[in-house]
Amino acid sequence: MKLAAPVSFAAGLVPALAAGWLLFPHLLYRSEAQPLPFNHKVHAEQGMACADCHAVTPDGRFAGFPTTESCAGCHAEKGENPAINALVAKYVEPGAEVPWLSNARQPDNVYFPHASHVTGEKIACTRCHGPRGESTTAREVQVNRLSGYPRDIWGPSISRLGRKDWQGMKMSDCIDCHRAGGRESACIACHK
Ligand code: HEC
Ligand code: HEC
Ligand code: HEC
Ligand code: HEC
Ligand code: HEC
Repeated sequence: MKLAAPVSFAAGLVPALAAGWLLFPHLLYRSEAQPLPFNHKVHAEQGMACADCHAVTPDGRFAGFPTTESCAGCHAEKGENPAINALVAKYVEPGAEVPWLSNARQPDNVYFPHASHVTGEKIACTRCHGPRGESTTAREVQVNRLSGYPRDIWGPSISRLGRKDWQGMKMSDCIDCHRAGGRESACIACHK
């Protein structure tokens, strides 16, 4: 009788921990679908550069997601492809912007200037975004239910063990790179 309690406690605890470890990431994040499919690879094969759609203008502003107008030059008419037809019918013809969702978006109080990173030091897009520019689908967005942040801020694994440089963009990740380059940033540089 004396042994039974710890044994049955352990017998319950181990599966509960295992279930928690496996289920927690699924419960922690909710998914939101992108408004349209998108294929980076097809466009790269047309010879398009990242900056054709995600430009940094000379005055230092970053275009972010491309405008519908920039697609319309090539996709003004419907054809065989259902993804292109959806783009034309829902956005090009009515002249509406596609509400693309971001996996990288920082909270409102964080100031992140693309221009300082990609113009001055020429840090590659892949250093912070991985191989997104080669993707064949618009990635669904996962939002952390507790913080409200999209998944790329914490990165793909909850434990953060063995993650690659680009997998995560928490405050400590920003600061680690700034320190490695001998740059100390004041709180006010990143927080407005
Ligand atoms: C034809 C226009 C076009 C070109 C060229 C293009 N992109 Fe995109 N990009 C998009 C669109 C549309 C989205 C939104 C849909 C998606 O996530 O796939 C996007 C999304 C992204 C995102 C996701 C941002 C986020 O917040 O989740 C990254 C990163 C990105 N592009 C990087 C690149 C890189 C790097 C290149 C060059 C190798 C590139 N793109 C070339 C149109 C383009
Ligand atoms: C320079 C011309 C050009 C521009 C600009 C362009 N595309 Fe395309 N796009 C193409 C070509 C070429 C294809 C592949 C041939 C086809 O399927 O018609 C394609 C294919 C696609 C597809 C189908 C992909 C698939 O896997 O079936 C979608 C969706 C698409 N484009 C969306 C966009 C969006 C959104 C924009 C604006 C951000 C854009 N395109 C800008 C030329 C362009
Ligand atoms: C030093 C890291 C870093 C580099 C280099 C970088 N990005 Fe980003 N990117 C970010 C961060 C952080 C965000 C979120 C910004 C925010 O929320 O204000 C972001 C957001 C984006 C978005 C979404 C914009 C939106 O409106 O939500 C796109 C598209 C994107 N980046 C494309 C690119 C492309 C293309 C390049 C290369 C020319 C690039 N990035 C280089 C860190 C980086
Ligand atoms: C891969 C390295 C790297 C990462 C990651 C990175 N930065 Fe930077 N950041 C730099 C470098 C290098 C500069 C200096 C650019 C220059 O002066 O030409 C810079 C400059 C800045 C500046 C301009 C003001 C200053 O401090 O000099 C801001 C603001 C900034 N980064 C914010 C961020 C934020 C916010 C993040 C995370 C979301 C981030 N950075 C992630 C390398 C990085
Ligand atoms: C290089 C850019 C950078 C600098 C410098 C920086 N922060 Fe942050 N901070 C961030 C980013 C990015 C986030 C959002 C992501 C996160 O929560 O890790 C953040 C989030 C925070 C949060 C919210 C924490 C949370 O997770 O909700 C606080 C509080 C904060 N910072 C305080 C500070 C203070 C105080 C300083 C100065 C000692 C400072 N930060 C300097 C980039 C920076």
